[in-house]
Amino acid sequence: MSDKKRYALVGTGSRAGMFVDAVTASYAESAELVAFCDISQVRMNWYNAQLVERGCAPLPTYPASQFDQMIQETHPDMIIVSTVDSTHHLYIIRAMELGCDVISEKPMTTNLDALKAIYDTIERTGKHLRVTFNYRYAPAYTHLRKLILEGIVGRPLAVDFSWMLDTSHGADYFRRWHREKENSGGLLVHKATHHFDLVNWWIDSYPQDVFAMGNLLFYGRKNAEARGEHYPYERYTGVEAAKGDPFALSLEDKAVYKGLYLNAEAETLAILSPQDACQSVGCHW
Ligand SMILES: NC(=O)c1ccc[n+]([C@@H]2O[C@H](COP(=O)([O-])OP(=O)(O)OC[C@H]3O[C@@H](n4cnc5c(N)ncnc54)[C@H](O)[C@@H]3O)[C@@H](O)[C@H]2O)c1
Repeated sequence: MSDKKRYALVGTGSRAGMFVDAVTASYAESAELVAFCDISQVRMNWYNAQLVERGCAPLPTYPASQFDQMIQETHPDMIIVSTVDSTHHLYIIRAMELGCDVISEKPMTTNLDALKAIYDTIERTGKHLRVTFNYRYAPAYTHLRKLILEGIVGRPLAVDFSWMLDTSHGADYFRRWHREKENSGGLLVHKATHHFDLVNWWIDSYPQDVFAMGNLLFYGRKNAEARGEHYPYERYTGVEAAKGDPFALSLEDKAVYKGLYLNAEAETLAILSPQDACQSVGCHW
């Protein structure tokens, strides 16, 4: 075995692409990707096809029920978790129990019990977890922290932070699994986790008490109808009437959408939710 750090990735959706490229291209001198795991064979195959196109060997693929087997057979040092948010803790915890460190996509998890279980596991196993708050590395945001820490803008006494979502990007959060709280924890967890992280990081602070209020007043059928907008179609892809709809996204527009989503529909539409998926494939955690 080489002395490169070995990574296995669970959750081969669109976000996985960033990690696949980083490990197999940008940092290939020191890192090696050794396996894929997902509930979708189509998506794992798509990533393997990308690797082969770039002259790399395809990787072994494992359904979710064989996560343990993947670790036992491919000996990763590090597991990258880029599954649906509400399933992160399952893989974070199990990977650590099996001796791996973990890099997880944000949010770390979506509920308090899972959060406590993760911290217990870190303590019990001594393993390391990193949650990828990539916004910190946007040059303007990195610079803002520097300006604050160097005292150039003075000592922040209070922070008033707003984040505007435009129609197109905002709609991303209401299209698929993201829109259901049971999968994503809701927008304040799924999306705002970045922003809470940024503010804490900028001013070098941790919150002591937190409360939140919110309401869904723009996205969703009910809100659209209250504004007098009507969308008679159930989906956008292949629907002529949806062309020109500012919320529309067609899975035929990009090769990556087609490869990861449209072509996987037959396989994944039968799955009710990621939790059901996990149970149906026999996850035992
Ligand atoms: N840091 C960022 O800026 C950023 C941006 C986009 C997404 N994300 C995060 O990345 C993660 C993935 O998002 P995405 O946009 O790639 O979603 P996606 O739907 O494209 O991919 C999720 C993948 O997880 C798989 N999956 C679902 N349930 C599973 C289970 N029980 N076991 C194993 N695999 C399962 C799906 O088949 C799919 O391939 C999410 O946690 C999301 O919050 C982070």
